[in-house]
Amino acid sequence: MPNTGPGMIVDVEQAVERLRAGELVAFPTETVYGLGADALNRSAIGKVFSAKGRPPDHPLIVHLPNLDLAQKWSSGFSNSALRLATEFWPGPLTLIVKRAEFVPLEVTGGQETVGLRVPSHPVAQELLSRFGGGIAGPSANRFGKVSSTSADDVLREFPDSNLGVLDGGTCVGGIESTIVDCSGDSLAILRPGLVTAEQIFESLGIMPRGREASSPRTAGGHQTHYSPSARVVILSPVELDILIAKVAGAESGNRYMLCVAGAPSGLPRQMKPVPVSGDPVELASRLYSLFRQADREGYSHIVFLQPEPGGVGVAIADRLNRAAAREEV
Ligand code: TXA
Ligand code: MG
Repeated sequence: MPNTGPGMIVDVEQAVERLRAGELVAFPTETVYGLGADALNRSAIGKVFSAKGRPPDHPLIVHLPNLDLAQKWSSGFSNSALRLATEFWPGPLTLIVKRAEFVPLEVTGGQETVGLRVPSHPVAQELLSRFGGGIAGPSANRFGKVSSTSADDVLREFPDSNLGVLDGGTCVGGIESTIVDCSGDSLAILRPGLVTAEQIFESLGIMPRGREASSPRTAGGHQTHYSPSARVVILSPVELDILIAKVAGAESGNRYMLCVAGAPSGLPRQMKPVPVSGDPVELASRLYSLFRQADREGYSHIVFLQPEPGGVGVAIADRLNRAAAREEV
């Protein structure tokens, strides 16, 4: 995107005008902010990729106001897709389905499938209903960086761009939607999120597979440079004790932000405790703002305890592992 001026907060009407004019609008959802464009406007889609610095073969999610409209963007929902959509939409769930013929290949990264989502955030709902069409949008962050969970995050992420930002407050979900591939004969979770494998099993009586080498391409497989700049460290309680003892006994320039429930007292001065909830849903809602805080405050390391297996813990483990490996989600 050309550097035509700083981003600005817009209202829903201005946001719709901008989308119709082929401009970008960042918008809130209950998971994270999206960087939206008219999904049928190829030149607007091009602007999304250049604003993000994202390779063009990475597909975008198309956001729609309801299931009826979403179904038009597919050549056909499977029974499982229909069931999941009925149960979890509007909500933090993206379904990969076969695309309708009119869906631009620029949106799908050249694939015959498309990712569809009906978000529940009231501002997203209002935007989508008033726009009346599909809004293609990845998370509103530069490629490889942490997703934005507030309008301020978005403005800071794209300081030089002529971007309209619709402010819907802080995202309550805090991590990106669960992505379920419903395009083949079996179901697979391509990205875990707040809609869990257990909930999908309860709904369908089928346990979805996890992400596999043969699964369709997602951005998650790519190594990138930062996410956040502080090194993410994931430890068992015993490993945390060992780290604390090591830091206490050795002088180094490292500074640690300890994001653990019930941090021990008497920590060495290079370690700052930032108490977090042991509940993975609560941790999800704060995770990216903790990453940003660590960078803002100049910590060299940000430390988490390994989450409990199962449920939303799977999504937390996924985001922590990717951040530790410095991959985008
Ligand atoms: O919560 C979210 O999902 C947010 C909000 C804005 O909706 N969006 C988001 O988009 O996280 P993005 O582009 O950052 O991540 C979407 C992921 C990417 O890894 C992309 O490759 C994958 O979904 N994806 C999209 N369409 C796909 C398709 N047809 N097949 C396989 N993966 C797909
Ligand atoms: Mg993303």
